Amino acid sequence: INSTTRLNDGREIPLLGLGVYLSPPGDVTKNAVLAALAAGYRHIDTASLYRNEADVGEAVLTRPPREEIFVTTKIWNSDQGYEKTLAAADLSLARLKTDYIDLLLLHSPLPGKKKRLESYRALEELVKSGKVKSIGVSNYGIHHLRELFETHPEIKPAVNQIEVHPWCRRQELTDFCEANSIVVEAYSPLAKAQRLDDANLVSLAQKYNKTSAQILVRWGLQHGFVSLPKSTNNERIKSNADVFNFHLDDADMEVLDSLDENFVTGWDPTTCD
Ligand code: A2P
Repeated sequence: INSTTRLNDGREIPLLGLGVYLSPPGDVTKNAVLAALAAGYRHIDTASLYRNEADVGEAVLTRPPREEIFVTTKIWNSDQGYEKTLAAADLSLARLKTDYIDLLLLHSPLPGKKKRLESYRALEELVKSGKVKSIGVSNYGIHHLRELFETHPEIKPAVNQIEVHPWCRRQELTDFCEANSIVVEAYSPLAKAQRLDDANLVSLAQKYNKTSAQILVRWGLQHGFVSLPKSTNNERIKSNADVFNFHLDDADMEVLDSLDENFVTGWDPTTCD
């Protein structure tokens, strides 16, 4: 469960993380994170947008040492811009009750080119001041990444966190990330549970004696993606992480790859200007 991959800045990131989007603030999130830590997760993915950073922070505090847990948070759109990003990061640090964030992402490219580039400069500054270890982006398309590369950033984005699952394969974008040493983090790897009864998926689940959710997480890991399944249910949290004791063979990976239909469960800022 604590297999890791290496980021382009040399740091390691656990391949499996708990997503807490739509995990309600308060005890529900705190208990989900506690359950995940008890089940062996060492990576939690939150955002200021989710309003549950404080609960994540409280749960993480129960299990020192801090450096064994990888915590990601994100700068929301309305906080983009150089000064606002610096201020938002300080507020996230305070809510998380930590003195550093493992990975800080720009939540989306939607604020436009000027703010994107200013915000990224602020992320670099936060690394230099030690408040953040690794930086990256989320919901970026190829053109957004190219725009950033054109400014020759001192610190390259370590990840691009995007919606990825077999019905939203994003081959071109994930290939581009791979070619540029950017780790793809898959959010909504379970397609928000909207396709768990897909006939092809169910038949693979039977073949491997696994759940549909486990097959989906495994599919992402075998493609080299970090996978961030969300659950607030103890049993499902545990079960979603039980994916390191089997291997999908190539033909079955292809069956899953063939399900692509550009289906996004949420928003899709990767195509914005
Ligand atoms: P819950 O939190 O009640 O478990 P995604 O990670 O793709 O965004 O999917 C999250 C959704 O999938 C949530 O509604 C979550 O509900 C549900 N979910 C998480 N794990 C499982 C699972 N193993 N089986 C079925 N549904 C799941």
